[in-house]
Amino acid sequence: MEETKNIVIIGGRGRIGSALTRRYSSNPRYTVTSFGRKELDLADLASIDSALIGLEFDLVINAAAMTNVDACEQHPETAKRANTTGPARVAEICRNKGARMFHISTDYVYDGASPGLRHEGDATEPTGIYGQTKLDGENAVLAALGEHGLIIRTSWVFGPDRPSFPDMVLQWACEREVVEAIDDKWSCPCYSEDFAQYLELLFDNENAHGVLHLCNSGSCSWFDYGQAVLSIAEAEGVVLKCSDLKPIELFQMDRFIAPRPMHTAMATVKFAELTGVTPRGWQVALREYLRSELAKSNDA
Ligand SMILES: NC(=O)c1ccc[n+]([C@@H]2O[C@H](COP(=O)([O-])OP(=O)(O)OC[C@H]3O[C@@H](n4cnc5c(N)ncnc54)[C@H](OP(=O)(O)O)[C@@H]3O)[C@@H](O)[C@H]2O)c1
Repeated sequence: MEETKNIVIIGGRGRIGSALTRRYSSNPRYTVTSFGRKELDLADLASIDSALIGLEFDLVINAAAMTNVDACEQHPETAKRANTTGPARVAEICRNKGARMFHISTDYVYDGASPGLRHEGDATEPTGIYGQTKLDGENAVLAALGEHGLIIRTSWVFGPDRPSFPDMVLQWACEREVVEAIDDKWSCPCYSEDFAQYLELLFDNENAHGVLHLCNSGSCSWFDYGQAVLSIAEAEGVVLKCSDLKPIELFQMDRFIAPRPMHTAMATVKFAELTGVTPRGWQVALREYLRSELAKSNDA
């Protein structure tokens, strides 16, 4: 009989954390303890200790972070606690218990200055506080855990647990005649349900350590991403006030506080080599997601 794996999920109420919690809790092979911020606050070392030290586990997945890039720029000390100091403490506890840690991170560790796909060995140079605190968190986790640590960088996450770019674009296109989208920033969308499924392939893989990219295959600009949302929605019978987005450039977004990197689309070749699985394309995943969300709203 296969052994049960004890998994702790931190940030279990977030967009990715909810998908992980749902998928792994429904599998009898896993015993899952999922913490929201109230039960485990990464910004409070005592809260981390009291949640984790008395617990037995084989694997911690940290899906919690201060993810609002503008708030990070305005509150760098709070960002440091959530994105660097807290994960470092979690990693120390994992080391003391001989547990592995999967730490979720971001494409914002890259400066995004040149076009093309980023690979895991490429130089990192964050453009803002969010990326810097996340990179410092990555380094702290790897320093504490060596081969027991895995950094999983993802990007442009969408899914049913919290609204994100596709949900917002669709809502605006139903309400307004003109909707703008940035046409000179590129990355890779990632469906949270796919992320949870693909991450599971690494649980028993001892070669999975260091840094790994994980998102759906294919890259696009925010404009392409939004336009794909509208095409899928129209094909599904949604009546839009705006069918064609208006392209704008990143520099025109004067309400952005933090600088955003332009070219951070990530290659997932290393993931495919480790697991034998190439993540499916973002358009297919997006279509599945939007269909299921539209079906829910039709049923409501
Ligand atoms: N979303 C994206 O497009 C994207 C892109 C690249 C990388 N990522 C990475 O993916 C991971 C998960 O992001 P996500 O999309 O699931 O973001 P999310 O929906 O914002 O979830 C983050 C979770 O972390 C929690 N949190 C924030 N500060 C905390 C603290 N001090 N202690 C404990 N929990 C705290 C939040 O709780 P509250 O709800 O109470 O705030 C939330 O539940 C993060 O590492 C992020 O950097 C996400």
